[in-house]
Amino acid sequence: MKRRTVIMITGLLALAITSLNFFSGPRTNKDGEQSEGGNDSFLDRDIRIKRRPRLESETMEPMHGKLAQEIQEGEVGRVQAELDRQQQRQKQIDTQNRRLKLGEQASPMTQEASPKVDQPLKEQQRQQQQRSTASVTANTNFVENKYHVVTSVDGQIYTEWQVRIHYYWYKQMRLQYPDSAMGGFTRLLHSGKPDFLMDEIPTKVVDLLPPGMDKGFVVLNRPYAFAQWVERYMASIPERYVLMSEPDHLFIRPPPLWATLEKPAAFVFTYIEPAEHATIVNRFNDRKVPVESMAQIGSSPVIINRDQLAAVVDAWYDISLRLKNDPEADKAFGWVLDMYGWSIASSQHPDGPLQYDLHLLEFMIQPPWDETLAQGPSKENTTILHYTYGSDFNLTTGKFTPGTVGQWHWDKRDFSTRYPDGNIDCPAIIQPQTTHLQMWYINQAIAALGSAWGRPAVSR
Ligand SMILES: *[C@@H]1O[C@H](CO)[C@@H](O)[C@H](O)[C@H]1NC(C)=O
Ligand SMILES: *[C@@H]1O[C@H](CO)[C@@H](O)[C@H](O)[C@H]1NC(C)=O
Ligand SMILES: *[C@@H]1O[C@H](CO)[C@@H](O)[C@H](O)[C@H]1NC(C)=O
Repeated sequence: MKRRTVIMITGLLALAITSLNFFSGPRTNKDGEQSEGGNDSFLDRDIRIKRRPRLESETMEPMHGKLAQEIQEGEVGRVQAELDRQQQRQKQIDTQNRRLKLGEQASPMTQEASPKVDQPLKEQQRQQQQRSTASVTANTNFVENKYHVVTSVDGQIYTEWQVRIHYYWYKQMRLQYPDSAMGGFTRLLHSGKPDFLMDEIPTKVVDLLPPGMDKGFVVLNRPYAFAQWVERYMASIPERYVLMSEPDHLFIRPPPLWATLEKPAAFVFTYIEPAEHATIVNRFNDRKVPVESMAQIGSSPVIINRDQLAAVVDAWYDISLRLKNDPEADKAFGWVLDMYGWSIASSQHPDGPLQYDLHLLEFMIQPPWDETLAQGPSKENTTILHYTYGSDFNLTTGKFTPGTVGQWHWDKRDFSTRYPDGNIDCPAIIQPQTTHLQMWYINQAIAALGSAWGRPAVSR
C-alpha cells in the first residue's frame, strides 16, 4: 500500500502541474471527438465506443475464417426449455420444502427468505469462507479448474441495472452448467459505500479514488478497485483464476477456462494498438520489453490466474494513472486509456511479458456488428454477449442503421438515469439473430427480477 500512496502523491502533484492545461479547453480523444473537460463518466466512454468506426480487420471472422457459423437457430428455444426444466425442478424443491415446514422439520436452510435459486451459491459462499481461512494457512488449497467472476461497478444507476441483469445470467449459468469452470461471483463496488443490492448480489465495497485523482476520468477507478480487491479480498476466494468482467456482459455460456497457469486468456480488441504508439508506450515501458509483446487487449474479458493478476494489478493502476497524467498519452488513448494501461502493465510482469491466449468471437460477440453467434477453432461456442453498441434498425429492410436513430431503437445509453422497461418487442424483420438474442436475454432477466426491478423507494 505504501507504493500506492507514493503513486497517489505523485499523481496529485502531476494533477496540480497539469491542471491548467487540463481545464483550459475541451480535449480531443482518439477519434478526434471532443469531450467536455472534467465531466467524463462510464456513460461518456460508452458513447465514445459507440461512435468508434468499425475497422476492416474487425469485421466477422478475422481470425477463424469460415469457422464462425450460424449455430443458433434453436438457441432461444434451447434456453427457454432449460429454464422451464429448472422451474419444474424448483417447484419440486419448493413442494418438498413446504412439506418439511408443515411437518415442522424445516432446517434453517429451508427457512431462508431468499430465492431457492441462491442456495447453491449461498452454500458455496459458506464453503468459500471456510476454505479462505484454510487458504491463508495453506496456500495450495485452490480450486484449480475454476475462475471467480469479478465485475466492477461504480454504484450509479447506469451500471446498477446492468449488473443485476449480468448477475441474473451468471446464476443461470451456474444452474444450467453446474460442471463448468465458472466459480463464485463478486460485484466489485467502487463507490466506497454499500448499496441496496448487497443482499441480492455478493459484493465487496472498495474505495473511490481520492477527489481529483481521476482527473475527471472515472474509469481510472477500475484499476484502483481491482488493486484494492487483490490486496484485501482475493485471499478469501477459493478459485485459482479470475474472470474480469463488465456489467454489460450477458453470459450465454460459461466461458471455458481458456487460461493456464502460464498463459492468461483475453478477448482481442483490434483498436488497442500499442505497437502503433511505440513512442508514447515506451515512456511507460519500464522493463524495456519489445512493444510487440503488448497484446491488443483490454482488461475485460480476461481470465488470469490469481498470481499473475496480483503481479500486474498495481502496475495497471500505476500506468493508467501515469498515462492520464501524460498529455500526449491522454490525447492519444482518450477513453480507452485504462485498456492500454492493462496491455502495457501485462507486459511488465516480473517474469517477462504475459503471453495471452487470444480469443475472438467464441469469447464475446458485440451485436449488431456481430450478426451471429460463433464457434472458435476448437468448436467452443460464444460465451458472452456484450451489448455495448446501440441498436438502430430500419423496419422496412430490417437493416442496421449505425449512426442514425432507427425506426426501431434500443441503446443502453438511454438508461443512464433510469431502469429500462422489460418486455421489449424486437420485431421479426430485424435481421441479426444476435439482436433478438440480446433483447431476449435482457427481457428474461427483467421479468425474473419481477417486482424487485428498479430502485427501492427512498423511504425504505
Ligand atoms: C456531467 O454532465 C451531466 C449532463 O450533461 C450533468 O447532469 C452532470 O451534473 C455533470 N457532472 C459533473 C460532475 O459536472
Ligand atoms: C457448440 O454448440 C453446438 C451446437 O449447439 C454443439 O453441438 C457443440 O457441442 C457446442 N460445443 C461446445 C464445445 O460446447
Ligand atoms: C428504410 O429503408 C428503405 C429502403 O432503403 C428506405 O427507402 C426508407 O427511407 C428507410 N426508412 C427510414 C425511416 O429511414
